[in-house]
Formats: sequence, structure tokens, C-alpha cells
Amino acid sequence: MEFTDLIKKRRSVRAYKEETVSSDVISEIITEAYQAPSWKNSQTARYYVANTPEAIEKVRKALPEFNNRSSANAALVITTFVKDISGFTAGAADNELSNKWGAYDLGLNNAYFVLAAKEKGLDTLIMGLRDANMLREEFGIPKTEQITAVIALGYGVSEPAPRRDRAVDEVAKFL
Ligand SMILES: Cc1cc2nc3c(=O)[nH]c(=O)nc-3n(C[C@H](O)[C@H](O)[C@H](O)COP(=O)(O)O)c2cc1C
Repeated sequence: MEFTDLIKKRRSVRAYKEETVSSDVISEIITEAYQAPSWKNSQTARYYVANTPEAIEKVRKALPEFNNRSSANAALVITTFVKDISGFTAGAADNELSNKWGAYDLGLNNAYFVLAAKEKGLDTLIMGLRDANMLREEFGIPKTEQITAVIALGYGVSEPAPRRDRAVDEVAKFL
């Protein structure tokens, strides 16, 4: 798919077909997501992939009702970043954003993830509303990692309605 089409076609999908996603395809998506840039190439993004009915059910328990419903039938991918590395030198923050650089890097990585998924015919839903403590406990995610989004990954039932976007002159100043 042409890149411009790809970025236009990628949308948040909230209804998925009862169709399993191959774990090999998920591995390919993560490999492509890892082409994203990161602070000093620190590569602190991490993925915890729930792609068996048992693991998916455990992740779903940590989602609020709305997200639980929206992500039914999808694989669920917990995303985290290793703290105190991106934006840091020798253990000290390089500037005022501190660990927010880790979140920035993870966001880039996740952006590549959702686009790589779309290119393979898969739809996604990034979910920021989730119970991080439940996920940490259930899957033994270490405290050195910041749990961030859960991404639903599957075959969408239908395309969402077109969305309204801000005009360039509203969001960008050419200096
Ligand atoms: C960081 C982040 C957190 C989000 N959390 C949720 C969520 O918890 N539940 C949900 O339904 N959508 C969530 N979304 C999806 C946004 O609502 C969606 O991206 C936005 O409305 C734009 O629509 P589009 O993705 O279809 O282009 C989240 C998106 C991002 C980037």
C-alpha cells in the first residue's frame, strides 16, 4: 500500500472478526515497529503479547467495560518502556522531560506498530484506559518498566466513519 494511503486508512477499530492473528505476523509487526527512532537508539519499548484465549482473557480483565467490548476477538498487546534510560545519561536526566522521553519513544514505536499492522491487513485500537497494576501483577511486569498502552490487534469488522481533522494553519506555524 502507498504510504499516504496507509496513514489515511489506519483508524482505531472497535469491532473485530472472530479470526485468530498469527503470532508470526505479530513478530513481524514488532520487528517493523522497532525501525522507529529512539533517544540515542536506546530501544526501550517492550511488548507483552497476549495471543492465546487464556492470556487474552487475563488482559481483558484489566480493561474498563468500554474497551473490553471494543477489543473483543482481538489479540491484546501490552506496551511498556524501560524507565531511566531514554532521556538519561549515566543515570541522570538530560533535561526536564526525564522519563517522558521514554514515553515519546514508545509512542513512536507504537505508531510504527499500528501502521505496520495496517499494511498487513490488520486493524488496531490503542487503549490508554487500562488497569496497569492488574497487568503488572498478572504478568509479572517488572517495576523498571512503565506500563503504557494496551493495543488491540485483529481483523476489523468494518471501517470507521471518516474523522474531522484540524487544518494545517490551525496546528502549524511556519516561522
Ligand atoms: C494514547 C492513546 C490512548 C487512547 N486510548 C483509548 C482508549 O482507551 N479507548 C478508545 O476507545 N480509544 C482510545 N484511543 C483512540 C483514540 O480515541 C483515537 O486514536 C482518536 O479518536 C483518533 O481516531 P483514529 O485513531 O480512528 O484516527 C487512544 C489513542 C491514543 C493515541
